[in-house]
Amino acid sequence: NWNITDYVSEAIREIRETVGENGMVLGALSGGVDSAVAAVLTHRALGCGRLQCLYIDTGLQRAEDEAHVRNLSKHLGLKIKVVDAKERFLKALEGVIDPEQKRKIIGNLFIQVFEEEARNLGHFDFLLQGTLYPDVIESGEGSASVIKSHHNVGGLPQSLGLKLLEPLRWLYKDEVRNMGRWLGIPEDFLMRHPFPGPGLAVRTIGPVKEEYLDILRRAHSVLERVLKEEGVYNELWQAFPVFTGVKSVGVKGDARHYGWVLAVRMVQSVDAMTADWYKAPPELLDKIASSLISEIPEISRVVYDITSKPPGTIEWE
Ligand code: XMP
Repeated sequence: NWNITDYVSEAIREIRETVGENGMVLGALSGGVDSAVAAVLTHRALGCGRLQCLYIDTGLQRAEDEAHVRNLSKHLGLKIKVVDAKERFLKALEGVIDPEQKRKIIGNLFIQVFEEEARNLGHFDFLLQGTLYPDVIESGEGSASVIKSHHNVGGLPQSLGLKLLEPLRWLYKDEVRNMGRWLGIPEDFLMRHPFPGPGLAVRTIGPVKEEYLDILRRAHSVLERVLKEEGVYNELWQAFPVFTGVKSVGVKGDARHYGWVLAVRMVQSVDAMTADWYKAPPELLDKIASSLISEIPEISRVVYDITSKPPGTIEWE
């Protein structure tokens, strides 16, 4: 498609122009589509020697994120360092229940860990970020009030003295996916649903504990598998479980079972600015609930979120 070819060449030209002859770029990979497309594009523009990627394992990501990042890097020849910071994030979040406080703690610690690692990796001039057009709008530039503090925009470059490289700044998600396709990123990676920077911490209502994160990770994998089996994964903008922090009585076998209530959120959207709750067929909801309850012993009940955005937001926190 000539359109995307043109767009890619233009983006590559712009990266080269911005970074100059000798500029060094540090890229943060998150496990998601945007940061990966940004990295592959930059790799195309500058070659291997001038782009170093960093993946910080916060312990708040989906079960498959790290493997995806490693595979993709190998497949496309990206230079990547993986940092295990799980303990630090869990410790910093201990006892915190306020959503904005969670977001701030995670954002700040992310910057701190990132800075430490960046200094060890050498000298850089630019920080590469996979910021999209809707991120720019929702994070306050041009909008009257900030609803949630997103941790992927701002912060990092100032403290590291780096200039910002944001080659996807004018694009919407579907355009980024098209670009990724053109760049040879595998389809199953490109169609992954968006995932928030603060990760599972903002899908765990109340205090964040490893025990709860573990339930969420398993639930996420079960939900994703069912949606793929039923062929609806690609129709959804996002689909994820929320750990409600509420317990409820159920029956398992013949016995009383006092377990956790898991909420399932599935939405359709084009840019996340607005979203409709997914009018799932009852048979699908049934399969989701029974799979979750039978495969995750800690769960006793599954509820479905039928709030659109607005008035709800997509994430619960
Ligand atoms: P909300 O919950 O504000 O989410 O309706 C809109 C979209 O943004 C994602 N989201 C984030 N993405 N950093 C991100 O990179 C964040 O801090 C963050 N918070 C929410 C959310 O998953 C949805 O797609």
